[in-house]
Amino acid sequence: MDSNSKISLHTGNKIPVLGLGTWQLTDKTAETVLRALELGYRQIDTSSDYGTQPGIGEALKKTQQDRKKIYVVTKVEEDDDAFDRTKSNLHELGLEYVDLMLIHRPPAIGAGEELWEGLMRAKQEGLVRDIGVSNYSAMLIQQLIDAGGEVPAVNQIEWSPFGHSEEMRQYCDEKKIVIQAYSPLTRGKCLEEPILKNVAGNYVRSPAQILIRWNLQRGTVPIPKANQNEHLEENINVFDFEISDDDMELLNGLNEEYSSLGSLPYV
Ligand SMILES: NC(=O)c1ccc[n+]([C@@H]2O[C@H](COP(=O)([O-])OP(=O)(O)OC[C@H]3O[C@@H](n4cnc5c(N)ncnc54)[C@H](OP(=O)(O)O)[C@@H]3O)[C@@H](O)[C@H]2O)c1
Repeated sequence: MDSNSKISLHTGNKIPVLGLGTWQLTDKTAETVLRALELGYRQIDTSSDYGTQPGIGEALKKTQQDRKKIYVVTKVEEDDDAFDRTKSNLHELGLEYVDLMLIHRPPAIGAGEELWEGLMRAKQEGLVRDIGVSNYSAMLIQQLIDAGGEVPAVNQIEWSPFGHSEEMRQYCDEKKIVIQAYSPLTRGKCLEEPILKNVAGNYVRSPAQILIRWNLQRGTVPIPKANQNEHLEENINVFDFEISDDDMELLNGLNEEYSSLGSLPYV
């Protein structure tokens, strides 16, 4: 596995194993994204409400990388007209299509069936390659499917050794839905945890690198955000070591359904 490696989605398309998060990457977005692409990041995650789409668009125009090799993920909000928002996202990004469009979070009532129809139409019309959800429970995903919708390619949820759910993992495995792991570094909050630090010491790596590698080895797709150059470099320098089965078990055991938002919306 390296930074060009990909995981297959149930649609037949593929998603790079690691991405760059861009929430709050509003200082010098274009410069940071360009640097990330130079370092080997092949997936960029954004949303209509992050304020980073224009900067990402600028970086994508400037980069030497072929558009087809860069995987762009963005989102529509729960009160949007999903089809219209897809078009305005593309406009902000300066792109003809994105690789993945997600419903950012379920609406207050229902599972977002109307949003899902808007995204299915956007897919049919070639504006997006794949569609998925974010912050969805298994029950809400099932509601979308039962309403005749296609199975989401991805569920983007908060996911780390400190906060994850084996039940969600099992449901996604059954449906062949890939889990994209947001806040994989716990927004920096759990990096000093002693067991994590001990495991990191075994490989002479940083706790952040262990959190990213834990995801990679479990087949979930981490999208760490990093503004600082040394963080960008550190977070992609995770392909030349392997966490042992015993240490993976120790990390799995850290689960306390931790959430930087207060609670995991999918549990
Ligand atoms: N779908 C959703 O509802 C949702 C919700 C939250 C997040 N997301 C997505 O997931 C992405 C990642 O999540 P996140 O931004 O919440 O949190 P995160 O990636 O867990 O943590 C980001 C924080 O960790 C720091 N950091 C990065 N690399 C580090 C390293 N090697 N060592 C120590 N600290 C490091 C960053 O600092 P610097 O920036 O200073 O380098 C930043 O303060 C977001 O940017 C966004 O794209 C999606």
